[in-house]
Amino acid sequence: MTTRLAVIPGDGIGPEVVAEILPVLAWVQGRGRDLAWEVHPWGADHFLATGEILPEGAFLDLRDRTDGILFGAVGDPRVPDGRHAEGILLRLRRDLELAVNERPCHPLLDGHLPLRGVAARDVRITVFRENTEGPYCLKGITEPGRATDLAEHTEQAVRRLLEAAFRKAAAGERSITLAHKANVLKHGHGLWMRLFQELRATHPAVEARSMHADALLCALVQDPRPFGIIAADNYLGDLISDLLAAFQGGMGVAPSLSWAPHRPFRCGALAEPVHGSAPDLAGRGMANPTGMFLCTALLFGHLGWQEEAGLLESAVRHALLAGAASPDLGGHLRTGEMGAAIRAGLPA
Ligand code: NAD
Ligand code: IPM
Ligand code: MN
Repeated sequence: MTTRLAVIPGDGIGPEVVAEILPVLAWVQGRGRDLAWEVHPWGADHFLATGEILPEGAFLDLRDRTDGILFGAVGDPRVPDGRHAEGILLRLRRDLELAVNERPCHPLLDGHLPLRGVAARDVRITVFRENTEGPYCLKGITEPGRATDLAEHTEQAVRRLLEAAFRKAAAGERSITLAHKANVLKHGHGLWMRLFQELRATHPAVEARSMHADALLCALVQDPRPFGIIAADNYLGDLISDLLAAFQGGMGVAPSLSWAPHRPFRCGALAEPVHGSAPDLAGRGMANPTGMFLCTALLFGHLGWQEEAGLLESAVRHALLAGAASPDLGGHLRTGEMGAAIRAGLPA
């Protein structure tokens, strides 16, 4: 069966980094993979021009007739309440039940780490961020003199996230650390702690511990080497993954894959860089497309195309090792030049 991908470039630098990955899809096709893709207009421009965010028919088409989504970024100063970002990105994560947002931190160059004496190859962390709940349930209210954001945690989603994280830790012989604030968030993070203890008991071979998230952040900056998998709720996982982006060279490098461990729908994964739409860079040819390349490799791996995933990752590694660098990495390459430098490492 043809593998169908949906491409959503979105806003700001989203279309600029996505443009660099489209030739890679043609490369995959050229290698004999039965692949088709469609580029969709959802984003701020489309919303402002038509009032449409993500029409129901389009959502159902993504859900039931595609195998994965390649996503650039959403967010636009002309839509200050971010309603289109909620209706596109957060909706896809929630309604495709993509409970896991996997955010690897595998720095490629020593020079990218702002930490003294730590070699890039010694840092091998992957954040497993719950991707559908917590404060992202968006059940809040602003009243006179008071504003409330609810953070909802269900046993089902937390269990899905933790089971996936423990499976990954068990397969890779890595440790797992739960980031939490159960000392304050007694109910929500209390639930996380209870399920974490339960899974720890059923995975005796995995070295598992929990840490208060504030202490964890300090420990990560002092020495990230002891950490393997870090499991966290949606909010803490978001914050931790941006800290870890700094260990990879910055926001332009960090990749992520959102996926549904229980495979409820045909569309089981969404590749999204950790960065946003970077309005400060949009239209200037200065965006680093590396994160987009790396998250496409994660999607290929998810689709079972291990060989293409590996080739794409090593093309990125070779380009960076050879000195390819956009301004955020201290170089002068423009987005298109950076993309070309990476693609040059792909075999014909
Ligand atoms: P951001 O990630 O867009 O930018 C943060 C900083 O990182 C900026 O200095 C930016 O120039 C830099 N940066 C980001 N991507 C880069 C790249 N590829 N190459 C080089 N430098 C890069 O985060 P922000 O400024 O907090 O948010 C801007 C908008 O993006 C907001 O609307 C926000 O809601 C949205 N956002 C969207 C996503 C997403 O779609 N997944 C993620 C984060 C933020
Ligand atoms: C991310 C972003 C999003 C998030 C925003 C744009 C809603 O920061 O993908 O990390 O908070 O999840
Ligand atoms: Mn974020």
